[in-house]
Amino acid sequence: MKHRSSLSLLLLSLFFILFCTATEDGDGDSSSSIVFTTLGRAEYAFDIFSLPTSHKPSKDDELLITDGQSVNFNGHFPSPSSSPILSMFSNQILTQDPTPPPLQLLVYVTERNGSSNIYLDGFYDGINPTRRSILETPDRVQVPLLSIEQRNGRISMKDRPSVSGDYLIYVSTHEDSMAPRKSWAAVYSTHLKTGETQRLTPYGVADFSPAISPSGVWTAVASSGERGWVGEEEDLNTDIYVFRTNDGSERIKLVEYGGWPCWVDEFTLYFHRRSENGWMSIYRAILPRERTISTESVVIERVTPPGLHAFTPATSPGNNRFIAVATRRPTSDFRHIELFDLVLNEFREVTSTVSPKTHHYNPFISPDSTRVGYHRCRGKSNGRTNSPLFLENIQSPKPEISLFRIIGSFPSFSPVGDRIAYVNFPGVYVVNRDGSGKREVFSGTAFSTAWDWKRKGVIYTSTGPTFAGESTEVDIISINVDQTGSNSYKKLTIGGKNNAFPSASPDGKWVAFRSGRSGHKNLYLMDAVEGEKGGIRRLTEGPWTDTMCNWSPDGDWIAFASDRDNPGGGSFGIYFIHPNGTGLKKVVHSGEGGRTNHPWFSPDGKSIVFTSDYGAVSAEPIANPHHYQPYGDIYVARSDGSGIRRMTHNSYEDGTPTWGPTFIRPVDVVEWPSSGDGCSFDDCHWLGQAGNHGVGVSPYISTKPKCC
Ligand SMILES: *[C@@H]1O[C@H](CO)[C@@H](O)[C@H](O)[C@H]1NC(C)=O
Ligand SMILES: *[C@@H]1O[C@H](CO)[C@@H](O)[C@H](O)[C@H]1NC(C)=O
Repeated sequence: MKHRSSLSLLLLSLFFILFCTATEDGDGDSSSSIVFTTLGRAEYAFDIFSLPTSHKPSKDDELLITDGQSVNFNGHFPSPSSSPILSMFSNQILTQDPTPPPLQLLVYVTERNGSSNIYLDGFYDGINPTRRSILETPDRVQVPLLSIEQRNGRISMKDRPSVSGDYLIYVSTHEDSMAPRKSWAAVYSTHLKTGETQRLTPYGVADFSPAISPSGVWTAVASSGERGWVGEEEDLNTDIYVFRTNDGSERIKLVEYGGWPCWVDEFTLYFHRRSENGWMSIYRAILPRERTISTESVVIERVTPPGLHAFTPATSPGNNRFIAVATRRPTSDFRHIELFDLVLNEFREVTSTVSPKTHHYNPFISPDSTRVGYHRCRGKSNGRTNSPLFLENIQSPKPEISLFRIIGSFPSFSPVGDRIAYVNFPGVYVVNRDGSGKREVFSGTAFSTAWDWKRKGVIYTSTGPTFAGESTEVDIISINVDQTGSNSYKKLTIGGKNNAFPSASPDGKWVAFRSGRSGHKNLYLMDAVEGEKGGIRRLTEGPWTDTMCNWSPDGDWIAFASDRDNPGGGSFGIYFIHPNGTGLKKVVHSGEGGRTNHPWFSPDGKSIVFTSDYGAVSAEPIANPHHYQPYGDIYVARSDGSGIRRMTHNSYEDGTPTWGPTFIRPVDVVEWPSSGDGCSFDDCHWLGQAGNHGVGVSPYISTKPKCC
């Protein structure tokens, strides 16, 4: 009873804090909205499931644990016995059973109501042996573990949580690394009773994928160390470090080159790395018992054989019989969870028989080794069917700007902000801001959209293949979205030499765009109504790429992205130029070699929004579905390039932002009727290839072979 009342107090204070935060944020200086795209995210109907490890499972063995509604992933089964505070939750669960079965706990990341959070679910497993979903079990608790932290208005990505004693250990991105292209990912510990949070990662360093040793004393991480991030998308080339969980001290490098660590006992760690023959494989690191630990004193052994990719290992304390891994086999197009028998050195398939055509991610094993957990897309069959959100509200670090993720790419607002145009590969669509009246206005493949400021209902887009060379046939068309039929659109460019990214002048007379007609992609202006025939003028010139232009609301500037600092080198910065060709200036660049693209002016012209790798990667990309540019986040800055502010925090690819003139109330807008079961996202493309394709093999392996 005593426990129960102190817990109620804790919960009460959590609710109080949540409530206060909500009212303080209010609508304040409500003014405008930013809408952007996240590659694939609308399809991530992720839930956490588990299967028994004792036998070859069937469909009926699979248990849905999370809510069947939010995006839930990266679970961890804490041991109730090692975590006094979590076992208190058993008092919250009402059960008639005088001798209830063991309490089951799950800690996981959840994206709901616009923020990334860490939740705890607790339930008694086995009360209703026929149920397939925890949702059918009335007796369960579900609580956010980090609400106290939100008092400070902290917005961040949270990742890979685990609990040891009264502490929650996790990755968060709430502290600016203060340097371009340095990840903000760092490991924190939060005391679950007081909410006191401590950073365990030294400043200037990024840590990913933390794992606590069974005793709780040590935490292992994949760290970019001092080397930092130089643009890797497949393999971060991290090293494994350990430090004391209580304060981050005694930090040492254990393993050069490895990621996603997990412990079996205080002296044995498993991790993944790409092997010399190109396959992602599991390795074991054995720490010396007598000597002081150093990188040299650690013995490293390869565990999984070549011939398939095996990665994101999971262990359970003291279990030397098997580990769980995710695999990509050459014989399957899907990522599956398998057990690897450490005695027989063989794999045992787990999910491939249960849901063969689904990707399964990031396994974890229960403390008693009887169940393996993972996340996958719930699909149609489990829980509710998923209605993706047309505009998903994202918690905004600037309360006067509401922030939304849209289903579709290259959104743009009509001048008064009542309608949104976007593309869908193929097709150009227009929809009312409240999600009603969705209409296809062009059926071909098109990219980028922009509205005319004067002629009501006129939009511009470019039609043809994306990411194509200078001479590819891409043309700019204008579409009157209030008309139907083939005379609703008009081709504005002639000759199709990759003319794209139109943006109209506020006086309605001109359209700025990029064209490859000279053999290089540079900027041009043409007549907005008649197109090239009505007059064309070259705005920039040089053997590089100028692209993605956006005209300022006062008409004085055209913002664009350019690689002119290092043509063809893949690095883009944002530049401004006057429409008369004078005043060229560099406004934002994300350090040496960085990428900053898709600039868009705020309605008052005083700021810009753009996408950038400024905050680098936030998680090991292999732990997520495919993202071409997992480092892409949305940023705003003043129009002189100062005051850069990170708007989104995730390990996905966010891009193509637009900035509209009205403040959309920060709640999810309208559920879009689902066409399929969702779930049609890609797994990491490079995992689908055979191991020896040779791309991205760490330089550390060839220069310093350590094993095998
Ligand atoms: C999201 O917020 C709404 C409104 O505040 C609330 O009713 C709903 O329960 C919340 N959803 C989740 C999953 O927390
Ligand atoms: C070019 O345009 C800018 C603003 O649009 C103006 O301030 C400047 O005087 C113009 N320069 C010339 C040479 O016309």
